[in-house]
Amino acid sequence: MKKITSLLAAVTVAAGMSAQTQTFDINTSKVGGAIPSTMYGIFFEDINYAADGGLYGELVKNRSFEFPQHFMGWKAFGQFELMNDGPFNKNPHYVRLKNSGHNDKYTGLENEGFFGIGYQRGADYRFTVWARTPNGDDKVTLRVLFCDPSTMGERQQFSEGTLEISGKEWKKYEVVIKANQTVDKGSLRIMLARNSRTVDLEHISLFPVDVYKGDENGMRKDLAESLEQLKPGVFRFPGGCIVEGTDLATRYQWKNSVGPVENRPLNENRWHYTFDYRFFPDYYQSYGLGFYEYFRLSEQIGAEPLPVVSVGLSCEFQNGSERNDRHVPVDQLQPYIDDVLDLIEFANGDPAKNQWAKLRADMGHPAPFNLKYVAIGNEQWGPIYPENLKPFIEQVRAKYPEIKLIGSSGPNSEGGDFEYLWPEMRKLGVDLVDEHFYRNEEWFLKSGNRYDNYKRGKNEPKVFAGEYACHGRGKKWNHFNAALMEAAFMTDLERNADIVEMATYAPLFAHVDGWQWRPDAIWYDNLRKFNSCSYYVQQLYALNKGTNMLTLTMNGKPVAGNDDQNGLFASAVYDKDTDEVIIKVINTGDKPQPVTFNLKGMKKGAHQAQLITFHSDDINAENTLDEPTKIVPVKSSLTVTAPAQDITVPARTFYIYKIKK
Ligand code: AHR
Repeated sequence: MKKITSLLAAVTVAAGMSAQTQTFDINTSKVGGAIPSTMYGIFFEDINYAADGGLYGELVKNRSFEFPQHFMGWKAFGQFELMNDGPFNKNPHYVRLKNSGHNDKYTGLENEGFFGIGYQRGADYRFTVWARTPNGDDKVTLRVLFCDPSTMGERQQFSEGTLEISGKEWKKYEVVIKANQTVDKGSLRIMLARNSRTVDLEHISLFPVDVYKGDENGMRKDLAESLEQLKPGVFRFPGGCIVEGTDLATRYQWKNSVGPVENRPLNENRWHYTFDYRFFPDYYQSYGLGFYEYFRLSEQIGAEPLPVVSVGLSCEFQNGSERNDRHVPVDQLQPYIDDVLDLIEFANGDPAKNQWAKLRADMGHPAPFNLKYVAIGNEQWGPIYPENLKPFIEQVRAKYPEIKLIGSSGPNSEGGDFEYLWPEMRKLGVDLVDEHFYRNEEWFLKSGNRYDNYKRGKNEPKVFAGEYACHGRGKKWNHFNAALMEAAFMTDLERNADIVEMATYAPLFAHVDGWQWRPDAIWYDNLRKFNSCSYYVQQLYALNKGTNMLTLTMNGKPVAGNDDQNGLFASAVYDKDTDEVIIKVINTGDKPQPVTFNLKGMKKGAHQAQLITFHSDDINAENTLDEPTKIVPVKSSLTVTAPAQDITVPARTFYIYKIKK
């Protein structure tokens, strides 16, 4: 965040102050219920090349030659052959490279990466390959080249390493190569040395050495750091619709995503064909970023892991919501239920007592991951959902009563399916109900009171706003105004933190060359990234969530953009760790709004404060790769006077006041 220092006067806009002053009554003496630590979280789905080609550090596409078109992503040249009796039974294909048969001909392979391979000058890259010489030869030399296929320079290759392969046994070979140039759409070329003998290659991989936390099979550092900097309380994964699959065969199966990476079978990613107008036929899931890595990442960024699992229903958008043969009948659900029970063991179990817990330990994490939540089903609807969900709930509850279970209210924020599912979820006794809303500006502006009148009670499920974003009418990108709408709406989450236990903006990631869905929180190409305006709104809430609710009203009512409230939204919390009163005010209108803070219970006199301003003069503007910090929050210091302080909130602005009590 940029930091400036100014006095309160600097934030008082004199011009255009025709609007009537509104008084916010903030009761700082009556500290309310706790804000859940999970309140603001993140939702990860492998959409928009978020995993392979995004957060997952692997730079090679189709590294195991298992895509249905086995050489997709590769150019093979010279004398080569696709083989299928390799060392990894779930990924049996590999490539045999043979002598080209002529001194001036070459044999080899070239990988195009995901929209190219990004190389950063001076950075080290770890190339690994499983290899053997099938005839038992010694010292077959492989050249490993980093190339810029589109250069106008003399040489395409700008860095090179070599590997000597020996013997009939499959072994893993490694060479670290420094990139001598920065190239955003490079390639990886592997050439058999001249007059070479035959060599077999499998699981050809290239990672930056400098991945997040230096992990083996690690994450792209800059993207993982964006997650960490959001300070998320909860991490929902791995989707979204990919949990359900376009059909049952392509649903996300977590058991395929754990164990040695070389033997995790490929899955079709439903997002390669969901929209024919944004079609990516090379979009598959390597499962290199699998459930172990999701749990590890949750721990590293300090978020509660929240896996979503299949309820035995393939995506209802594609397969209908009536009972049919595309969904699993209730009496055949046991393998699906077992997947959930085993997942809880994988995360929390004792390695001495359970094979899945042992696998976790073998993968490097003997201690439990302390899983507390599981969501069963994503966006499901119709009677088939509660029918399928019931046996899951019964069996998980019986064995793991401590786990909180999350049910779905369907893909819509209101309407028939939503109205039907909430009572059904209540009957089944889920702990939280997952609500999704991708809605336009009007919806966000009129939904500021959404949770004020939700039922409360000991046995009442809590709310999980599991996917939401403002999809601007006619402008569905990450412009400032969409973020402002989200900021306004989030005052409602905060004011109702007694029943809203968690909320996760969606989706998280998008590659600029490979997106299917927008807006998204974080955008990137092969070397650069930017955080969207919506990202900053999420971060502002997460970093300023406080510890306890405070009441903030205007004429006795919540400030939620109602007719007489001039487009103002506001909420307040107290942070007992910093002894601060934190007031969030959003002016969604196009005029400055004078406001008086009536700080009931605050010691009379001047109080040190900080003001964070999030504003753009152009509401259609957004951050970009070329201007990643065009619109960012700005901090300033000031003093605030108790019991009453006049301020003016400029048009289209999100203000956060942090006042020392
Ligand atoms: O976030 C993209 C998709 O939106 C999710 O997969 C799905 O749950 C929702 O419909």
